[in-house]
Amino acid sequence: MMKPIKTDDGSYTFFSEQYGEHYHSITGADEESMKKFVEPAVKIIESRLGLTNSSLTSPTIYIIDVCFGLGYNSAAFLDYLGNIIPTDEQKIQIHIAGLENDQEIIDKIKANDSSFKSYPIIKKLASDGIYSKNNIKIELHMGDARITVKDVPKNWANLVFLDPFSPKKCPQLWTEEFFRNIYERMSSNSCLTTYSCARSVRDNLRAVGFEVVDGPRVGRRAPSTIAYKR
Ligand SMILES: C[S@@+](CC[C@H](N)C(=O)[O-])C[C@H]1O[C@@H](n2cnc3c(N)ncnc32)[C@H](O)[C@@H]1O
Repeated sequence: MMKPIKTDDGSYTFFSEQYGEHYHSITGADEESMKKFVEPAVKIIESRLGLTNSSLTSPTIYIIDVCFGLGYNSAAFLDYLGNIIPTDEQKIQIHIAGLENDQEIIDKIKANDSSFKSYPIIKKLASDGIYSKNNIKIELHMGDARITVKDVPKNWANLVFLDPFSPKKCPQLWTEEFFRNIYERMSSNSCLTTYSCARSVRDNLRAVGFEVVDGPRVGRRAPSTIAYKR
């Protein structure tokens, strides 16, 4: 039975016995989602998403949240957008495809204590498997992400949050083959973010066509990774 663990920024994570790892950095789960996954991705393609001027270049933002877990990366994105554009003024449509293979962690969302303002949306999603209201649509694709990623249309995603357990513990989700399938589902001028800066991960990202740069250093000396599809 997994129990919630408080991280250094006050937000909660869990520990996976199967993988021998926490679901988030224990230096701060919320911070990790916001600083490593959401902010760098949005900043890099802000103008492409139409967030920096009044004429929207992309009326819908499409996101793949790979390894959805407790849904912090999607929640952080919704909070981030709510901070720059008031929720009731948002003309932007958001469509998120969450990939996850473990119903137990999805069930944990229902009683999870999170301070993300948008977490009630994630809780409703966890109960219903789909969320569709106003400008936000989120669907969960349950199963092995290597298979379910193929449910996503090609050239679809503007942003991808790639958040598997570590390359050592979960190597199958850091391969060239999996990255190629993700790359094919991303639009031009789109961006993928991940916490890992492992050499093998970056080599595999480059091998399928991504431009790879350092992401921010948060809670440790090593950077995260930003991968850009031109
Ligand atoms: C590091 S945690 C992700 C944390 C998550 N992004 C969050 O905000 O809570 C890794 C997640 O990958 C999921 N996972 C592991 N293997 C998978 C697979 N083959 N396909 C889909 N999800 C997988 C685990 O169940 C776990 O929820």
